[in-house]
Amino acid sequence: MATSAIVSIGAYVPSRVVTNDDLSKIMDTSDEWIRTRTGIHQRHMAVAEETTASMSFNAAQAALETAAMDAGDLDWILLCTDTPEMWTPATACFVQESLHAKKASAIDLTGGCAGFLQTLELADAAAQLGKTVMVIGTELLSRSMDWSDRSTAVLFGDGAGAVIVTPDRGHGIQLTHSRTYSDGSQTEILQKPYGGTRHAIPPEIVAHGGHHRIHMEGRKVFRHAVHRMSQAAREVLADMNMDVDTIDWVVPHQANQRILTAVADALHIPMDKVFSHVENYANTGSASIILALADMFQQDLILPQQRLISIAFGDGFSWGSAIWTVQSLPPTRFIGRDQ
Ligand SMILES: CC(C)(COP(=O)(O)OP(=O)(O)OC[C@H]1O[C@@H](n2cnc3c(N)ncnc32)[C@H](O)[C@@H]1OP(=O)(O)O)[C@@H](O)C(=O)NCCC(=O)NCCS
Repeated sequence: MATSAIVSIGAYVPSRVVTNDDLSKIMDTSDEWIRTRTGIHQRHMAVAEETTASMSFNAAQAALETAAMDAGDLDWILLCTDTPEMWTPATACFVQESLHAKKASAIDLTGGCAGFLQTLELADAAAQLGKTVMVIGTELLSRSMDWSDRSTAVLFGDGAGAVIVTPDRGHGIQLTHSRTYSDGSQTEILQKPYGGTRHAIPPEIVAHGGHHRIHMEGRKVFRHAVHRMSQAAREVLADMNMDVDTIDWVVPHQANQRILTAVADALHIPMDKVFSHVENYANTGSASIILALADMFQQDLILPQQRLISIAFGDGFSWGSAIWTVQSLPPTRFIGRDQ
């Protein structure tokens, strides 16, 4: 039933690092509070000239170059983000042009932190038709932050990841099984409410730069995230008749350390099997699982024949889990990685 595989991984984070101490100079917070509540020590943030499309291009180009693949072979570019280059056209079209991916059809999806796993399911379906798909998860969240909301502003970072998905030819990471879900009854808990057809951007926000602002009820998100992520993991494992002990690594969406610990507890998975680099990059939304995978491969943490489970939760709410089998190590390049 497996039909597709990730055959290359590219990742990019901006060179500008913003520490918790840096944030404590612009808002009423402290390194101690942020570390204790989230495990985050720093995040990477885009500089003024960078945009979602430029970061996405860097990641996509890295994925192509490291695998010596040609952009002209891409049939689709599926780009998932909550922070698009502009409302229209799709950010994916800017990337398509920069890559010279002449035959690729380019489209954006809005999926937040679970967006990568959702988009990967679409790529898997396209691969069943023989297509070669670039999947990009990318966020420039620092430009959507309400810097007066300290409980949310400290949680996020910027970054972009890209994977190339092809029909499964026995190498790379096989997409063995996945399930994704949504529950639209909870949209008010985590949203960017302004700038769409429902609410204009209020004048006071326009006066301060006019970007959309993230609104989040952190405690409620925490509770839902732990419940949904562990439930999704149990369901994909049950579908495959697999015991949790057969999993070598959990590659979770890097929401925050307390969520990862609570999910691991709920699943009875030891923390040394749960990859986390949230301390370095914070929560990078739909980019985060790709950054995690890229970091793991660059650190030689994952070995051929290992089984991985990925889990994510984000706005919508949408969430999901995927089981991956490492058939061979995919070529990987992570630009800007912390050493
Ligand atoms: C956001 C989060 C870290 C807040 O932690 P919490 O323990 O729930 O903290 P609370 O919001 O209850 O706030 C506790 C206190 O800390 C204060 N506080 C909030 N942010 C602060 C900050 N950055 N620095 C210092 N104090 C802060 C609050 O004002 C509150 O003070 P009070 O008790 O005097 O009113 C936590 O709810 C969380 O991790 N939620 C999930 C968020 C997330 O990961 N979302 C993305 C999922 S994809």
